[in-house]
Amino acid sequence: MVAALEISGLKVLYGQAIEALDGVSITVPDGGFVALLGANGAGKSTTLKAISGLLRFENGRIAEGTIKYRGEDIAAIPSYQLARRGILHVREGRFVFPTMTVEENLEASLFARGKRGPALARRVYEEVFHYFPALKERAKSQAGYLSGGEQQMLAIGRALFAQPELLMVDEASLGLAPKIAADIFTILDKISNDRKLSILVVEQNVTLALRHAAYGYVLENGRIVSEGESQKLLDRDSLSRRYLGGGANAH
Ligand SMILES: Nc1ncnc2c1ncn2[C@@H]1O[C@H](COP(=O)(O)OP(=O)(O)O)[C@@H](O)[C@H]1O
Ligand SMILES: [Mg+2]
Repeated sequence: MVAALEISGLKVLYGQAIEALDGVSITVPDGGFVALLGANGAGKSTTLKAISGLLRFENGRIAEGTIKYRGEDIAAIPSYQLARRGILHVREGRFVFPTMTVEENLEASLFARGKRGPALARRVYEEVFHYFPALKERAKSQAGYLSGGEQQMLAIGRALFAQPELLMVDEASLGLAPKIAADIFTILDKISNDRKLSILVVEQNVTLALRHAAYGYVLENGRIVSEGESQKLLDRDSLSRRYLGGGANAH
């Protein structure tokens, strides 16, 4: 079977000389849930931006390697066209429109797939609110007044509203209370199972991510230094020592 996403030997430069990725290869199976792990500056966000076409807005470019989506090389396709094909990237920092209501934020993302219409909007509202009941209660509230957890749910909900096939979430749990972070991963799990969606999450909380993802990759200085099934990765001593050493991310 063709993988949903297949990245091979990816090398990314910012400007002329800053090498952010050096030969990264990652596969996300169709309907799979994969985690991309690593410390600050490892190249996690760069990887997602390369996939979703956002690199070019930061003076970044792919110098080598290929990015294939369902067998087709997508490296040169603009981000808005990728979004229409169902490749959705929830960027780090919970981007929502703060002065728009929750509903308006959701509706705005229908444009991402080039579709609109009240019937479609109603159906996808129901879908999003099914996964995020907390958002339903806040449907008429301005997004800027939501809690951090609710804003993250809205950011993910917006991507869902655009009916993704490949959903990428950058730093899903950053800055959230452990309980909320766990809730968000549980919902991602559920969405992935229900909708046969392929998911690639970027996380610094290794235990949380690997508890939910089936497979993980560890990036260090722009290279994959470790990969494997989640349970095996969690069991591996070196990874535990390096990333699970009782720091803030170890809950
Ligand atoms: N827009 C940019 N311009 C120049 N260098 C960048 C830019 N974005 C990221 N980098 C550099 O690329 C490397 C990888 O960054 P990033 O992908 O953001 O890492 P992570 O998401 O794992 O924290 C870092 O050394 C970072 O400083
Ligand atoms: Mg990042």
